[in-house]
Amino acid sequence: HANGVKTGKSRNLLEKMEETGKNCVILYGSQTGTAEDYASRLAKEGASRFGLKTMVADLEDYDYENLDTFPEDKVAFFVLATYGEGEPTDNAVEFYEFITGEDVSFSEGSEDAPLSKLKFVAFGLGNNTYEHYNSMVRNVTKALEKLGAHRIGEAGEGDDGAGTMEEDFLAWKEPMWTELAETMGLEEREAVYEPTFDVVEKLDMNIEDNTVYLGEPNKNHLEGHSKGPYNAHNPYIAPIAESKEIFTTKDRNCLHMEIDVAGSGMSYNTGDHIAVWPTNAGKEVERFLHIVGLGDKKNTVITVKGLDPTAKVPFPSPTTYDAVARYHMEICAPMSRQFVGTLAQFAPNDEIKEELTKMGGDRDYFHAKVSELNLNLGQFLEKMSNGEPWTKIPFSLFIEGLNKIQPRYYSISSSSHVQKEKISITAIVESIEKPGAPHIVKGVTTNYLLALKLKQHGEPEPDPYGLNYALNGPRNKYDGIHLPVHVRHSNFKLPSDPAKPIIMVGPGTGVAPFRAFVQERAAYAKEGKEIGKTVLFFGCRKKSEDFLYEKEWEEYKEALGDKFEMYTAFSRDGPEKVYVQHKIKEQAAEIDKLLQQKAFFYVCGDAANMARDVNALLIKIISEQRGVSEQKAEDVVKQMRASNQYQEDVWS
Ligand code: 2AM
Repeated sequence: HANGVKTGKSRNLLEKMEETGKNCVILYGSQTGTAEDYASRLAKEGASRFGLKTMVADLEDYDYENLDTFPEDKVAFFVLATYGEGEPTDNAVEFYEFITGEDVSFSEGSEDAPLSKLKFVAFGLGNNTYEHYNSMVRNVTKALEKLGAHRIGEAGEGDDGAGTMEEDFLAWKEPMWTELAETMGLEEREAVYEPTFDVVEKLDMNIEDNTVYLGEPNKNHLEGHSKGPYNAHNPYIAPIAESKEIFTTKDRNCLHMEIDVAGSGMSYNTGDHIAVWPTNAGKEVERFLHIVGLGDKKNTVITVKGLDPTAKVPFPSPTTYDAVARYHMEICAPMSRQFVGTLAQFAPNDEIKEELTKMGGDRDYFHAKVSELNLNLGQFLEKMSNGEPWTKIPFSLFIEGLNKIQPRYYSISSSSHVQKEKISITAIVESIEKPGAPHIVKGVTTNYLLALKLKQHGEPEPDPYGLNYALNGPRNKYDGIHLPVHVRHSNFKLPSDPAKPIIMVGPGTGVAPFRAFVQERAAYAKEGKEIGKTVLFFGCRKKSEDFLYEKEWEEYKEALGDKFEMYTAFSRDGPEKVYVQHKIKEQAAEIDKLLQQKAFFYVCGDAANMARDVNALLIKIISEQRGVSEQKAEDVVKQMRASNQYQEDVWS
């Protein structure tokens, strides 16, 4: 876990608020950056609508022993993501342990309700397909209230599983603001936009200047001597040793890539994740810059500074408009309703202004006019103004209102025992066409990977992608095709004893970590180790199209003999859909037998439907095979999860 101690910075939150004249702190517990973005939005809104003096703060940057002296005329917000199996995000671990601890104690000494002066607001980000839905916000709220703190508004819960996070957030915050304004005696005023960042064009500098950041994430990278440790703040620019297409159909792409981490000092273990730092497609960068009136200025050097000491600039500067759009802002994400509302005041004419105001305030109207058409920011602005550039939007608004590009995580599909210094990625290239929608939505990261693969093979790109020129272009720091990455360790692990039986369920690219598991066991078998039963359930559309690693499984079978059993479900080969669940059902007796022998049970892939169905099916199988009630079987499965016998690596 990240170590929150940063030298030289005060960890006293109240002192910091006092010094900077703040009366509202928005603390976030964030893993992938979404909670952090929501925190920034709340800060912005509180300031512009209610005149609150807001600051955003990373939970791990402060200590909480003096929370009992939090002044009554101030308020603290907690924006908390729940991670994995109901765990706090890395940056919230210490706070969580402190506030929910049995013997939590504060600076002023023990009292019955030590936090009775503290007013707080809470919003959680969770995923309903996981068992411990929004447990962070629930547990923290409970803990704070138990300590006497006074909650304002409901403790909000956003659901990423149902895909309603944004709407949950919007619906939650209105009554919360009303109650907050009442409690604190705040007057709502016409929102006046005040930029958070000062963006200054440096006409005496140009992009040849080697102090200008063109996508490099930090100073070491800029100066051409990046060094480890490599992590979420500092990627390793890894050579791509190999890239290939592994679907045999022309309709869709699935990439297999080998990332070379030799010499980086980075290591991985089978079952870990690799984070990929993407670049926006050139076409979308051009579109965005043009429509906001910066097309001619894209390579103008700019410096960006926070206008307030607590405002953190989310990328290094000096830089250029182009670099910010290409490497740092999620310009390809679907438009958010709140941002549409915010943009209204900068519309090129009153008609568009009215239309945007309507969209911002009316969920259904927004849905029909924007969401249904799958528009990103550039496409939305183009459509609204008929291609006429919007020249009134201050650049600061984009930095504040758009999410920061975050690395994306992929389940590693190679075994660290077999290839210690090469990490495999298996990824389907995402491309969503919607009837009636004018644009194809292309997954940012997987299409970036595809562009790299095409370039590596000297093939033309379907759309000019404008690959990472800071990595491969004019500065020529790196030779060949590279990808910025880091490794994230996971708890998704093989039993340390290879003689233990395992059962794996991984349809589609959910098979990625299981290719690693089986590869590892095959290698152990060749080394003469005793291997336990290794059962894999795999599903795809058609045997002849998307059967991932079809040839390899035969090699593994050869090495593992009857220890390896693979069951395949082809959903679109026959008249009726066949899914992995059907195959699991057919093997019910064998599965139960292995589970009684303490086999580990793994599920990887789609969280929303598949993983949930498999969980339900396993309960049914245990109930039937052991002749116990479903309730009892459910407890058995819960117990399996708690003891790590049942492990999931799922995504939505
Ligand atoms: P389908 O797309 O033909 O419905 C990998 O994506 C495989 O998982 C495909 O064969 C897909 O089938 C299948 N799949 C889709 N939904 C599923 C579910 N709920 N459970 C299991 N497999 C599913």
